[in-house]
Amino acid sequence: MYAKSLFLISILIATLQVCPQVAFAQKTDSIRLRSDNIDQVLQVMTTEEKCSLLVGAADEGSGVPNVAGYTRAIPRLNIPQTVLSDGPAGLRLSPTRPSSSQTFYCTGFPVGTLTACSWDPALVEEMTKTMGNEVREYGVDVLLAPGMNIHRNPLCGRNFEYFSEDPLLSGRMAAAYVRGVQSQGVGCSVKHFAANNQETNRLENDSRISERALREIYLKNFEIAIKEGRPWTVMSSYNKLNGEYTQQSHRLLTTILRNEWGFEGLVMTDWGCKDSTVKAVKAGNDLLMPGNQRERDRLMAAVESGALSLTELDRAVRRVLEYIVKTPRYKNYSYSNRPDLQAHAQMARRAAAESIVLLRNENGALPLNGSERVALYGISSVDFFGVGTGSGFVHTSHVANMQEALVAAGFTLDQDLADYYRHLYALQQDKERMEASAIDKRHRPEPEVTVRAIERQSQANDVAIIVLGRIAGEGADRVFHDDFQLTAPERELIQNVSLVYHKVGKRVVVVLNIVGVVETASWKDLVDAIILPWTPGQEGAHAVADIIKGKVNPSGKLSMTFPVNYMDIPSAANFPYRWDMSGKKGERRGVDFTPYEEDIWVGYRHFITHGVAVSYPFGYGLSYTTFDYGQPKVKANKDGFTATITVTNTGNVPGREVVQLYVSAPAGGLEKPSRELKAFAKTKTLMPGESEKLTLTVSAYDLASFNESTTAWETSAGTYVLLFGASSTDIRQTAHYKVKKAATWPIAE
Ligand code: GLC
Repeated sequence: MYAKSLFLISILIATLQVCPQVAFAQKTDSIRLRSDNIDQVLQVMTTEEKCSLLVGAADEGSGVPNVAGYTRAIPRLNIPQTVLSDGPAGLRLSPTRPSSSQTFYCTGFPVGTLTACSWDPALVEEMTKTMGNEVREYGVDVLLAPGMNIHRNPLCGRNFEYFSEDPLLSGRMAAAYVRGVQSQGVGCSVKHFAANNQETNRLENDSRISERALREIYLKNFEIAIKEGRPWTVMSSYNKLNGEYTQQSHRLLTTILRNEWGFEGLVMTDWGCKDSTVKAVKAGNDLLMPGNQRERDRLMAAVESGALSLTELDRAVRRVLEYIVKTPRYKNYSYSNRPDLQAHAQMARRAAAESIVLLRNENGALPLNGSERVALYGISSVDFFGVGTGSGFVHTSHVANMQEALVAAGFTLDQDLADYYRHLYALQQDKERMEASAIDKRHRPEPEVTVRAIERQSQANDVAIIVLGRIAGEGADRVFHDDFQLTAPERELIQNVSLVYHKVGKRVVVVLNIVGVVETASWKDLVDAIILPWTPGQEGAHAVADIIKGKVNPSGKLSMTFPVNYMDIPSAANFPYRWDMSGKKGERRGVDFTPYEEDIWVGYRHFITHGVAVSYPFGYGLSYTTFDYGQPKVKANKDGFTATITVTNTGNVPGREVVQLYVSAPAGGLEKPSRELKAFAKTKTLMPGESEKLTLTVSAYDLASFNESTTAWETSAGTYVLLFGASSTDIRQTAHYKVKKAATWPIAE
């Protein structure tokens, strides 16, 4: 027996010496990925396995087909495939599958621009908890959201996916969005990092930005989102930044994002393969999406040649493994494929209603009492946009339109007029079906309504509501004519309806169902009320009806400025007016490169500091009630100050108020905006006469400006004026805070 054992052992030893792979395989097959053995897994992975994990893969039977992307499975090591899908306004799934009789519709939530207008991070977090539940229950591991690039210019085709012109509001909303989604055990991907502020030539355009504008405006919101949201992943953008693709920028992805801000997650590319795969991994871009064999081959060759060191390779693989062990799929979560879409629809409606902005309400034109006869004008009253186009689009079972929403709210519609628009919309849909191509609704004509018809309708109805729509999406920017500007038929409709209805003493309300800022100054005084729901999701039309009927008192405030003229916008001179590919490649301004010559002067920072009048200012929004702001109290703390201010509802209906704290820094040193948003807070619903004390906290670092000459953040000593406003220009109370000793924060280089 003993001899036999010896013989077997000698055979085994001989085998091991002759065939280490066998040893390797036997040793490794016993290792299965866990959250606490990643080092061991790294040691037993082959180079091919490592390289394959850094590149997106095709669906390998994930059970969730046709989504944006997947990571590679390595079954022998218990590494599952993971599933990544869009988008910021809700999960993006194909609603049907050949293998199933079930549908897989998702909830169309309000877009980022609208929820930013809530100025309510708690609401955003509550809404995205619902969104995160849908991601998990449909078997997805990462939601490729939030989109959060700064609204540098209103013509950017993807602004609807993004939050604001201001980095603090944008960053706080993004952080809340991430916390909500990730509370459900799935990941986010804050995007598009960084300076992806136009769609024109987005794959190649070089955003040329000063270090100060980059730090204070275009990175600051990502810095806040990373530090306060802690997203699992970041998505680098397609574009270049100061001559270097962001996905290949070591300074951006490692020095700033990781060394300075402390990001510990995974960076993935946006969905496009560029040549320098290896440079991207070396820069700190760990996952190349959507991935192809060419990229895997390049990585293998680079490891072979030493161009990519094993340290660099393992660093990226470790980050991918650390991501994978967090996913529901790794945890074998048994997803239901049956999220509570009814409950989620109600959340979407409430989030929209709490965010919609009331821009105008002359003589208490709104709210209506719900029994009125309504003449509802505009093709968008039936073809109502719940979201924009592109990867941010959500396949919902239904998008409510204004006709059904107003009827559901108890209003009586002028039936002939309603039939007219419904018929035109049906014809438009037939045309799309027959031509098997979608009508470019960005230039959809507004149908004419004759004055005679309007006169007849003004006799038969109590109030006119006009719905104007705008649509856009990734891959193309908006344009000035018939997009930012109203079209002639739209202008004519507003003029004729206003003239006729006002002649008989009846009200005119405009609803802006738009993906981005439009011109308002030239026509707003013609009408009695203007409601801004942006593209408010599948239930957004009902939310608009809730506002019109007074079921919800509007509390939204603008997260960006509505200028009087497009050319008043500082970036107008440097925004691609149209995708004009004429000219010498490489030298086309706005196409090959975009100089951010306006520097830090974005939005209200420019308009207020330089005294340029606007149509509606940043932070502006009306309510059906009024509020009083008490005397603020400011108390220095170890790290800055805490201000408290009591807000009282001095009107006759319940309502919520957003208090915005702008700070005006002492003169001297760097040229600074006359005021910058440094904190904000929203009251609960206050009953008439009820008060609430709000607390706003600002750190010394929050007050800092970026000094290029010292490559450091600095908060100068001196007296800071604190402006407590109902908007950026409607200051209700002031106070002072003294910084005794200047402070600086050098950046990691
Ligand atoms: C697109 C978008 C990005 C999206 C990705 C996956 O190109 O830029 O926002 O998440 O591809 O669809």
